[in-house]
Amino acid sequence: MARPFVVGNWKMHKTIAEARALAIAVRDGARAFPEIDVAVAPPFTALAAVAEVLKGSTIGLAAQTMHEATHGAYTGEIAPTMLRDLGCTHVILGHSERRHLFGETDINVMKKARAALDHGLVPILCVGETLQERETSRTFDVVERQAEHALRHITPQEAAGCVLAYEPVWAIGTGKTASPAQAQEVHAFLRKLVARSHGDSVARSIRVLYGGSVKPDNAASLISEPDVDGSLVGGACLETGSFLGIVQASRG
Ligand code: PGA
Repeated sequence: MARPFVVGNWKMHKTIAEARALAIAVRDGARAFPEIDVAVAPPFTALAAVAEVLKGSTIGLAAQTMHEATHGAYTGEIAPTMLRDLGCTHVILGHSERRHLFGETDINVMKKARAALDHGLVPILCVGETLQERETSRTFDVVERQAEHALRHITPQEAAGCVLAYEPVWAIGTGKTASPAQAQEVHAFLRKLVARSHGDSVARSIRVLYGGSVKPDNAASLISEPDVDGSLVGGACLETGSFLGIVQASRG
């Protein structure tokens, strides 16, 4: 199995001082779990401060989104080159909040994924169905369309190092977690898709994280599923104890 990977998505939380304090606590606490890969995704305003804290550590630094162009007249946007300049290693792309609240499309995610790799950033590619899509049996169609676009212009060699995140929209921030069996079913399906498009060995290497109300008390049962390689954590990553509790529980 791939090394477990736990990513904390801080969303629109934390001042610079708060971000620095949380990053120090995560950096120091995660040293106890060297078998787990960890990354944090602070808001843009705190990336520089957190990069400074994480310098010399093995913790990854992710942005929560980016634009695909390297520069230009795109008011309010951030380029992949700027993220690299800040010391980012990863970027979350196609998070459901970006898709549903800010109109990001599959085509946007496809372009951004290509741009991330062109600039040395590991994309964390999010897919997931809404409650209505699940209830009308469209889960597999939706995640297939999203994953297929996200990976369309990525070579097998590159895809092996990418990260997919299955995040059912109905489980994000709602306290409703997918059951381990529900997560496993979609993760196995995603891996099969990757095998078809990029080959079996890529399907084995690519890490597929689960996201949606992951907490210290449900992380262990999720990671115990064969196709769940870790988690993308929202609410529970804002506090050191609960985030490190999830890291600890991800040892399998
Ligand atoms: P949540 O968010 O853990 O608060 O449900 C997960 C996510 O949006 O990545």
